[in-house]
Amino acid sequence: MLFDPFQIKGLQFKNRVMRSSIGGRTSYYDGTVTSAFKNFEKRFAEHDLAGIISATISVNNDRTSPMEYPKISDDRYVKPLASAIRAVHQYDCRYIIQIGDTGGATHTSLLSQKGDAKSSSTLFDLFYGYHNLHEAMSLEEIDITINEFAEAARRVRETGADGLEITASKGYIIHQFLNPGINRRKDKYGGSADNRFRLLEEIIIAARKKVGDDFPIGIRLSAAGYNYQPLNLRLPPRWPLNHWYFGNTIEDNLYFAGKLKGLGIDYLHIDKGYGFPNPKGTPGSFPVHEMKMFYNSNRHLSTKAWMRSIVFNSIPEFLLSPIANIGWGYVPAISADDARRFKEATGLPIISNGGYQDRKEMEETLEQGKADMLAMARPLLANVDLLHQFKAGKSSPDRPCSHCNKCLVRTANYPLGCYDQTRFISQDAMEQQIMEWSADSEQ
Ligand SMILES: Cc1cc2nc3c(=O)[nH]c(=O)nc-3n(C[C@H](O)[C@H](O)[C@H](O)COP(=O)(O)O)c2cc1C
Repeated sequence: MLFDPFQIKGLQFKNRVMRSSIGGRTSYYDGTVTSAFKNFEKRFAEHDLAGIISATISVNNDRTSPMEYPKISDDRYVKPLASAIRAVHQYDCRYIIQIGDTGGATHTSLLSQKGDAKSSSTLFDLFYGYHNLHEAMSLEEIDITINEFAEAARRVRETGADGLEITASKGYIIHQFLNPGINRRKDKYGGSADNRFRLLEEIIIAARKKVGDDFPIGIRLSAAGYNYQPLNLRLPPRWPLNHWYFGNTIEDNLYFAGKLKGLGIDYLHIDKGYGFPNPKGTPGSFPVHEMKMFYNSNRHLSTKAWMRSIVFNSIPEFLLSPIANIGWGYVPAISADDARRFKEATGLPIISNGGYQDRKEMEETLEQGKADMLAMARPLLANVDLLHQFKAGKSSPDRPCSHCNKCLVRTANYPLGCYDQTRFISQDAMEQQIMEWSADSEQ
């Protein structure tokens, strides 16, 4: 079934496997995509993927996260993105642009800026964002954000992309409004589930007006929040404590999914957890050493960022690692059972994300009707020819992705690629693979 075609709103996919969002430092300082971005995306297209979902491309001019990630906050970004998409289209591979706004979870910045702290509510969040406090958006700032999403949606269509995905996941701005552990607002954007959903609703309505009824719009939605407790410190606590501790449950998100269907969205892309990174979103190990490098790289930005780097520098890694790894661990097909519930509840096409690498497991997920398509990231960074290996009869690749998550955390500061040295015969071989990722394969 993995190699059976599938359609979403008339958009034909040649098989059931999508490359999930993978962002990296592949843009110029201003967010314009480079030829490294084009070559990176093209490599997946060349290797038989049915489609590619872009990295989260920022709708906001200030909040690029991390630095040198792509932006779509101005018309000037359209042309270079269009050129990358044309390169992908040569290989009968669809391209969906995912748009988002990191809000208060903005990872890093060259020069600390106020806008990077904006969120649904004012609170201290130890792990996410670099400002000491997230700051509540005013109603005017919310209106600006809705308009930024709508304008970005228009530009997505202008790039020649095949569809638009809006991320309501990853602990980014829409998720910061949906999540009752984060959103403490007392106005029409906070409190009840309907109020917390309002920002997403207004964004979808505004985006649909810009792209028209015939253009596919999908939503990346987390099946359940978990909120990364008890490890993350988020203050002050929120009552009731289960909202603070777990965020939205699957029942809450099924309710949102019903509303999304009513708004005419065309597919749901289901992942899990809250925040980037979080243990449910990228099941695997927590790479303490890589996190230390990341915290050191942005320690100058605030007292919070400085304290995080002190903690990571002063506790030896052999002690820090077991603590930081609490709750982490690889779970195959982590969102598959949840995806089934969204499929049953809405009847919408469902893409399930996270923890796929074994063909047998992937086939079972599809055959049991848990999802219509599967999205993958880390295993394709490790083995871009994974589908070729499946076609050659293998159920799992020779040198599988170990889910060490080093690529995930390094993406903020380093070139994209696999950083698990145990998968390579030497350090040189690993580095060569990383450099090859963005090189032009036709040269
Ligand atoms: C290097 C890297 C960068 C990522 N960048 C993004 C991103 O920009 N937006 C997003 O929504 N998810 C991003 N993700 C998450 C992946 O899309 C995916 O959901 C996650 O890795 C779980 O899938 P997997 O088990 O197949 O890796 C990234 C993951 C990795 C490893």
